[in-house]
Amino acid sequence: MAIERTFSIIKPDATERNLTGAINALIEKAGLRIVAQKRIHMTRKQAETFYAVHKARPFFGELVDFMISAPVVVQVLEGENAVLKYRDVMGATDPSKAAEGTIRKLHARSIGENSVHGSDAAETAALEIAQFFSGNEIVG
Ligand code: CMP
Repeated sequence: MAIERTFSIIKPDATERNLTGAINALIEKAGLRIVAQKRIHMTRKQAETFYAVHKARPFFGELVDFMISAPVVVQVLEGENAVLKYRDVMGATDPSKAAEGTIRKLHARSIGENSVHGSDAAETAALEIAQFFSGNEIVG
């Protein structure tokens, strides 16, 4: 199976509770490699661009406000089938529906404050990675 990359964000609800290491441990335990990582405070413009696909949704304003409320950790994860594998590690968007042992089941507070983001497809991952990382910041 091909080695693939996906994009991850450890969200404000998780960084505020000092959960970066706990989440990274779950990522690494699943066999994914963190090949780039930085802690940033997103600007409103960055968050609006990142979530532009959700612009028409009623929760868009709340989502952007939340994502800029505290630092986040943006990451590139690498491994076999990384996009789908990370979605499994994260669990369902709504933590009340997430499987046991997943990041969201263990740590998320709500559907909005759900601790992590992961790309939904390889094509999206490439675009999301390019928004936050230049090629020489990714070391596989
Ligand atoms: P994420 O994977 O980052 O992609 C879009 C985000 O929108 C999602 O995780 C949730 O955090 C957020 N979201 C989805 N549905 C809702 C909702 N009903 N209310 C608030 N936020 C939501």
